[in-house]
Amino acid sequence: MHIEVAEKNLDKVGFLDLKVDPSLDLFDEIEKLKKEKNMVLLAHYYQEPDIQDVADYIGDSLGLAQFAKKTSADMIVFAGVHFMAETAKILNPDKKVLLPDLKAGCSLADSAPADLFKKFKEQHPDHIVISYINCTAQIKALSDIICTSSNAEKIINSLPADQKIIFAPDKNLGGYLNRKTGRNMVLWNGACMVHEIFSLEKITKLKIRHPEAKFIAHPECEEPLLRIADFIGSTTALLNYTIKDDSKSYIVATETGILHQMQKENPGKTFIPAPPDNNCACNDCPHMKLNTLEKLYLCMKYELPEILMSKELIEKSRIPIERMLDISAT
Ligand code: 13P
Ligand code: SF4
Repeated sequence: MHIEVAEKNLDKVGFLDLKVDPSLDLFDEIEKLKKEKNMVLLAHYYQEPDIQDVADYIGDSLGLAQFAKKTSADMIVFAGVHFMAETAKILNPDKKVLLPDLKAGCSLADSAPADLFKKFKEQHPDHIVISYINCTAQIKALSDIICTSSNAEKIINSLPADQKIIFAPDKNLGGYLNRKTGRNMVLWNGACMVHEIFSLEKITKLKIRHPEAKFIAHPECEEPLLRIADFIGSTTALLNYTIKDDSKSYIVATETGILHQMQKENPGKTFIPAPPDNNCACNDCPHMKLNTLEKLYLCMKYELPEILMSKELIEKSRIPIERMLDISAT
């Protein structure tokens, strides 16, 4: 269902005006609701620390999709953004999938409107389409294979070297993958507002002030930043790197939510969020941060907002996701 229509429906039933009783212990209440309703709570690393702490599974986009595929819970509560909850719904068409705030979108997904992308695809009839999971279900339905930043290289390398490819929607990740794989994929001109805004100048100064710190970055960042990185990877790969690597401090160029798990896993180490090119010291995704513990509680209690999709869209968008999961499993 169109998000604006779904929002209006929530407004009509008074859901958007609900308030949480401040005397409630929301951690306890959420645990009770999970058990009562056989709900599983999935959270992305960019969620606020309280939500990560109450989740049953925290992961990157690939881990979350893999977990969603195998869960036996009756309902999935997704603390993340819309395309992630949509992916869980596509993989579980018969289950209720809930997202605490329907407006939790994604600038990267928004940068690829389906009508324009369809025309772009028609201009490259001999290309196959690999789309980054950060896109709408409509774009997924127009794609041949989905990938995440964890498995993109593997997916590209699984195709013959002379296969022509369109990569959408992230031009930064696409450019990084072209350089890594030696391909010349045609790139859709989309980007993530969070990863594009890091300041090379401020990071360079930070590196001078902390010469011992490793600089680690997500591949959604722009090329000049990636060029000076000691390690590049998905959120899970960045987290694992900080666990295995023996440095004591890191400058981290991705959304700040990941620092919570980095700090938990590495109590003796220091993590410095890479500064963006504005007046803030760290970089939050405004979409991810729309979810709060209060909204999460209301969502679980009233089983709203729910992700609703047509059967046809679910069927079409499921094929390239299943292809990704199959290639990832090999
Ligand atoms: P991963 O967690 O898959 O690295 O994705 C990062 C991201 O931007 C999610 O919105
Ligand atoms: Fe989208 Fe970027 Fe936010 Fe991830 S961090 S949800 S890619 S806007």
